[in-house]
Amino acid sequence: MPRTRTRLALAGAVAAALLLGGIATGPAAQADERHGEERTLAELAQRHGRYFGSATDNPELVDAPYTALLGSEFDQITPGNGMKWYATEPQQGVFDFSQGDEIVDLARANRQKVRGHTLVWHSQLPEWLTAREWTAPELRAVLKKHVQTVVRHYRGKVFAWDVVNEAFNEDGTYRETIFYRTLGPGYIADTLRWAHQADPHVKLYLNDYNIEGIGPKSDAYHRLAKELKAQRVPLHGIGLQAHLALQYGYPATLEDNLRRFARLGLDTALTEVDVRMQLPATEEKLALQAEWYRDLTAACLAVRRCVGITLWDYTDRYSWIPGFFPGEGAALPWDEDLRPKPAYFALRGALGEN
Ligand code: G3I
Repeated sequence: MPRTRTRLALAGAVAAALLLGGIATGPAAQADERHGEERTLAELAQRHGRYFGSATDNPELVDAPYTALLGSEFDQITPGNGMKWYATEPQQGVFDFSQGDEIVDLARANRQKVRGHTLVWHSQLPEWLTAREWTAPELRAVLKKHVQTVVRHYRGKVFAWDVVNEAFNEDGTYRETIFYRTLGPGYIADTLRWAHQADPHVKLYLNDYNIEGIGPKSDAYHRLAKELKAQRVPLHGIGLQAHLALQYGYPATLEDNLRRFARLGLDTALTEVDVRMQLPATEEKLALQAEWYRDLTAACLAVRRCVGITLWDYTDRYSWIPGFFPGEGAALPWDEDLRPKPAYFALRGALGEN
């Protein structure tokens, strides 16, 4: 359970406002109010049997105010980069778990759980892997060794793995990655099996963006998941990254989409949530953003197999958005000064504060 933050001043102000408004506030009511204000997002989510997490990254951990909030408000963290292939196997057969271990140690100190991210992805691969051609048997051996060594290292330390990340194109065809090109689509089932051998208890996910709503890309996951389940391949969940953007509209079929994966016997999770906008941020845009955060939380809570929500970092101070989408940003519930934005209060509301 994360440490509880005190917001007595704020609670006092709320109680005072209620008194001024003529609403009966006995000591019990005031205590309830204060208690409600003190609950963290994690505690609110736990009342629904969900976790509420944030990504983080090693260079950020020297920022004490940042890590204080990270350690208190959330009960789950995901390393933004530290467990990726380029970080964990920088030279062939030479493994470096220092960054991932730092995140795991931090999580342990704060009693948080860790999502492993990610075993197989076309991006952020080490150069030794991308700079040459591999035969299928060679690449199979390289992939198996990587996956099993990393999963074994983190056995019992992560509760879930994003095993294969971003395997499909927008139209639902397979992405032409080094793995697909060399090994064919069977690399996904193989990787899931190898991961399961290395840690039979960890939950294994496929994870992607733009699969929040029903459409060709999420259909491709639905089809693949159905096939994998029929073949008894160890697949336990689908991660919907949920990198949303105000200018593209809210994925209104999110809840239905979560339900159809649940009907296949799969967990789902919102794994990398942010809601970006074209800058400058205005009051209207921040209000709309808050609605989206509320709605995506409500969708997850409405579907029993949606196990939790992870922000892709929690503050605009460390968001990946401005670096990738020039002119866009303000995507997270806390601003660059670690001040909560309307989205933060919307999250509290959606999680049923009070
Ligand atoms: O490590 C170098 C460092 O040596 C150098 O000084 C610095 C200068 O720019 O760059 C560092 O590399 C950066 C790396 O993060 C580690 O910090 C890259 O430039 C930067 O592009 C990279 O961005 C990451 C991105 O994945 C790469 O695609 C983001 O931090 C990370 O949040 C983001 O996360 C992905 C998920 O894994 C998958 N889903 C999409 C999501 C957003 O892109």
